[in-house]
Amino acid sequence: MPELKETKGFQYLKGSRFDRFSMENRQRPAIAKIEPFKRYPHAGKIPLPRTWILTEEHLTPLLQHRRSLRKYSTEPPISLEHLAFLLWASQGITGQAGKYLFRAAPSGGALYPVETYISAHSIQGLAAGLYHFDAEHFALDRLTEQDAAEAVATACLDQKFMAQAAVVFLWTGVFRRAMSKYGDRGMRYILLDAGHICQNVLLAAEAVGCGGCPIGAFYDSELNQLLQIDGEEESILYAASVGKKIPPGT
Ligand SMILES: Cc1cc2nc3c(=O)[nH]c(=O)nc-3n(C[C@H](O)[C@H](O)[C@H](O)COP(=O)(O)O)c2cc1C
Repeated sequence: MPELKETKGFQYLKGSRFDRFSMENRQRPAIAKIEPFKRYPHAGKIPLPRTWILTEEHLTPLLQHRRSLRKYSTEPPISLEHLAFLLWASQGITGQAGKYLFRAAPSGGALYPVETYISAHSIQGLAAGLYHFDAEHFALDRLTEQDAAEAVATACLDQKFMAQAAVVFLWTGVFRRAMSKYGDRGMRYILLDAGHICQNVLLAAEAVGCGGCPIGAFYDSELNQLLQIDGEEESILYAASVGKKIPPGT
């Protein structure tokens, strides 16, 4: 491994810095645009309920009690309402201004380059398998018929606890969405967006008696393969397992 300043990561940050000179001479990147929403026209669509019932939750205890949770109660499963709430917290549409649909998590330039997928393991009324979150229609696109719990955990450096979670969130970046506007710097925004989304889900999980663990350790190509994405136009960035907390004293 090279010394800090020779690493690709450092060089990338350096190469994507804004300074007054580069801002004044900035040109639009020669990167073609892409659709703002990913569509799966042939997938079965599962509408998500908007009927989650939450008692009024205060932010302070959610922040105080959030801890990365790696042991989950498998019974009872998470309700579809609570899963819908977590998906809404991730990237649900919460506002509109003209053609812009704003979402629960902020996004550089409101370009929303991050896509949310889930590996459902133990959700009431939802078959196990991989799904894509269709934020525009507040629905899930069913991608596979098979339970992917073990495959996802294996692809995440064999972190077996992930297979015990009720659901694993998988976040990918569709790079053109942000990079066609921001060039190299867009990559920073994509990663920052993913962090916002994940934190929203972790706090929302806390609000419904669940806990989650953010996951950055995975074999990228294995998760990309499971999601049937090419790893170039779109690639996995981040994940989080979420499950019910084990009641104290059990
Ligand atoms: C970017 C990122 C990647 C992480 N990846 C993993 C992971 O792959 N496996 C894991 O068990 N925990 C992972 N974690 C959780 C951290 O270990 C955890 O946040 C840290 O120990 C602090 O504990 P807390 O989250 O309970 O406050 C990750 C956290 C972040 C922010």
